[in-house]
Amino acid sequence: MSERENYVVADMGLAAEGHRRMDWAWQYMPVLRLIREREGGRRPLEGRTVGCCLHLEAKTACLLEAMRDLGAAVAAAGSNPLSTQDAICAALADDGIHIFSKHGMSAAEYEENLRKMLAWEPDIIIDDGCDTVAMIHESYPELAPKILGGCEETTTGIKRLRVMDSEGILKFPMLAVNDALSKYLFDNRYGTGQSVWDGIVRTTNCVVAGKNVVVVGYGWCGKGVASRAAGLGAHVIVAEINPHRALEAHMDGYRVMDLLEASETGEIFVTVTGNTKVLRREHFERMRDGVLLSNAGHFDVEVWAPHLEEIASRIYDARDNIRTYETADGRRLHLLGEGRLVNLAAADGHPIEIMDTSFATQLLSALYIAGGAKLEPGLQRVPDSIDDSVARYKVESLGLKLERLTPEQEKYLNDWRE
Ligand SMILES: NC(=O)c1ccc[n+]([C@@H]2O[C@H](COP(=O)([O-])OP(=O)(O)OC[C@H]3O[C@@H](n4cnc5c(N)ncnc54)[C@H](O)[C@@H]3O)[C@@H](O)[C@H]2O)c1
Repeated sequence: MSERENYVVADMGLAAEGHRRMDWAWQYMPVLRLIREREGGRRPLEGRTVGCCLHLEAKTACLLEAMRDLGAAVAAAGSNPLSTQDAICAALADDGIHIFSKHGMSAAEYEENLRKMLAWEPDIIIDDGCDTVAMIHESYPELAPKILGGCEETTTGIKRLRVMDSEGILKFPMLAVNDALSKYLFDNRYGTGQSVWDGIVRTTNCVVAGKNVVVVGYGWCGKGVASRAAGLGAHVIVAEINPHRALEAHMDGYRVMDLLEASETGEIFVTVTGNTKVLRREHFERMRDGVLLSNAGHFDVEVWAPHLEEIASRIYDARDNIRTYETADGRRLHLLGEGRLVNLAAADGHPIEIMDTSFATQLLSALYIAGGAKLEPGLQRVPDSIDDSVARYKVESLGLKLERLTPEQEKYLNDWRE
C-alpha cells in the first residue's frame, strides 16, 4: 500500500480557473444541488471515505464536492489520462479533496495514482470502468472487508463486474448505476450522442453534413451517435454483430453493412462497442485518404492503433489531438484523441445537464450504501425508488408536468378481471 499523500496534481496555480469551471457546471445541475441542499443538514456521509476513479472534469468535481459537503472524506483518481483537466484537479485539491491525476499521465502513473487513492482506504467506491475494483481484488484484498459497497458508472465496467460476479469472486456489493434508467437512457444515448460530435468537430473543424459516417455498435451510445450524426446531415451507416440491433438500425433509416464494406465508403468512423480490435488492419487497408477515426467506447482498444503503426510509412501530429498515419500509397488516416473516448479526450464530455442525472443517481446510490442497506456481495441493481426519484426531480427542475392516474385508472391497471 502506498504512503498516504494529500494530492498529486500538475499545477496548484490553476485552482482559480478550476473553480470558475465548476461554478459554471453547478449552475446547470439542479438535481445534484437539490440533493445536496436536502441532505446537507444530516451529513449522511460523515465518517465515511469515498474512493473514486472518474473522469476528472467540472461535472465530476461537482459530485465530489457534493459528497464532501455531505460529510465524506473524498479521494479520487482520474479514470483516463486525456479526460483529466489539470485546473479541475487543482481546484479540488484546494477544496480539501485528495486528488491524484495529471492530464496526459502515463499508464504507470495512472496505476500509481489509483494506488494513492486506495491508500485512503475507502468505505465506498465509485468506479468508472472497474479498474479500481479489479485492483482491489488483485492487489489489495485486505481493503475489501471494510468496503460497504460501490457504484459502477459505465457499460464496460458492468461487463467486467458481471464476469467477476459470475465467477463468485466479488467481495462486496456493487450497484450497477449504468443500468439505471435515469443513467443509460440519457447519458449513454443523448450524452454520448451530442458530445462525440462536439469532440470530433472541435478537433477537426470539419463538416459532418453530407459525409458518410460509420457508427460501429448500435447500443445505447451508438443510437445517440447515429441520431445526432443524422441530425447534422450525415449519411449514417451502422455496423453491428447483433441481429436485433442491426434491424433496429435498419428500421431507424440507416444503412447496415459489415465493416469491410463500410471501410470503403466511410469518411468518419466512430466505434462504440465496448469490444476490442474493432477497426483493424484489414479495415485500414481499404479506407480512403483523409478518413477520421474516433472511438467513444470506454477503452482505447477499439481502433487498434498498433495496426495503424504497422501500415504507416510516416506518422505525425496533423493538429492538436490528431495523429496521422500516412501509408506508402499516400493515404492519410487520422486518429483522434489517441483512440480514447473522443468526447472526453477531445472535448468536455457529456453535457452538464445530462451528468446532473447520472451523478444524482451516483450520489443517491452512495447515500443508500452509507445508510446501512443490507446488500449481499455481488452486482446489484440500483433500487427503483432511487431511479424514479432522480427522474422526478429532473422533471420538476425542468418545470414539466406529469399526468396523474385517476383512482379509476389505477384500479383498472391493477385488476385482471376488467
Ligand atoms: N463516450 C462516453 O462518454 C461513454 C458513455 C457511456 C458508455 N460508454 C462506453 O461505450 C461503450 C458502449 O456502451 P453502450 O452502453 O452503448 O453498450 P451496449 O452494450 O448498449 O452497446 C454495444 C453494442 O456494440 C455491439 N458490438 C459489440 N462488438 C461489436 C463489433 N465487433 N462490431 C460491431 N458491433 C459490436 C453490441 O452488439 C452492442 O449492440 C462501452 O464501452 C461503454 O462503457 C462511453
